[in-house]
Amino acid sequence: MKPEVPELVVKMRAEVGEGPIWDPKTQTLVWVDITGSAIHRYDPATGQNTTIQTGVHVGAVAVRASGGLVLAAEDGFRGLDLDGTQSLLVGVEHDNTAMRMNDGKCDRRGRFWAGTMAYDEAGPSGLGSLYRLDPDLQVVQMVEGVSISNGIDWSPDDCLMYFIDSRSQTVDVFDFDLDTGSVQNRRTLIEVDAAIGLPDGMTVDAQGDLWVAMWGGARIACYAPDGTPREVFRFPVSQTSSCGFGGSGLEDLYVTTAARGISEAAEPDAGSLYRFTPGVTGQMPNEFAG
Ligand code: BGC
Ligand code: CA
Repeated sequence: MKPEVPELVVKMRAEVGEGPIWDPKTQTLVWVDITGSAIHRYDPATGQNTTIQTGVHVGAVAVRASGGLVLAAEDGFRGLDLDGTQSLLVGVEHDNTAMRMNDGKCDRRGRFWAGTMAYDEAGPSGLGSLYRLDPDLQVVQMVEGVSISNGIDWSPDDCLMYFIDSRSQTVDVFDFDLDTGSVQNRRTLIEVDAAIGLPDGMTVDAQGDLWVAMWGGARIACYAPDGTPREVFRFPVSQTSSCGFGGSGLEDLYVTTAARGISEAAEPDAGSLYRFTPGVTGQMPNEFAG
């Protein structure tokens, strides 16, 4: 199939657009602007994008089974109710203002996995961790020594968890136990050449292929489950940050981008939300069960 040219669906100067997640109940796409402290909701039926200002940096969100959203925010996991009330559910590296939460996603049992990173991205490495928020609101530290905790997703059979620490320039894989939520036997699956960007957000499609956004590389790259490169989709903006499938049949790949550090003259569309139809479908996204 011939790759489509990505369509710009929301023109925006999002500082760090990220975390696109389809909400099947409302048939809308939720995405964030991390350092812009905003949660966006794009409705493809109307073409409208609505914005909630959160007042805190928000690395990722998940739809909550009990209503509203759960946020991986600068100080920990926060709940955002439908009426707009926000509260800290549980702090994560709470008193350390040099760190914030970044990317995250829910597994099929409704546990919300999200990690941390230092604001100083060029500073010492390994200061962050990957955490798991369980439905009873207990937080478990799952992986230590992470620099920029980023893309995460699971294989369709739930036997593998894929994880990106951007500074390592790799996509790693763990054996995953869905019943216990434990991970072990970490190994490198894909080594990403720095010339094509930093591996950032990621999604796994229904066939098990990996779709990885390359920050600084103006592209989404697709890999087979064994790590073999399949296809590359190029973008007119350099900081492609994350991707997630949406649409009624999960046939559209939504791609977020970031305007941070890029002038409007250089890239007028940096920070916008894009979409294309790669010819495959995504896995059904999971809600946070708590
Ligand atoms: C982070 C950015 C970072 C980028 C590339 C994103 O997930 O939020 O701050 O620059 O990844 O590593
Ligand atoms: Ca990211």
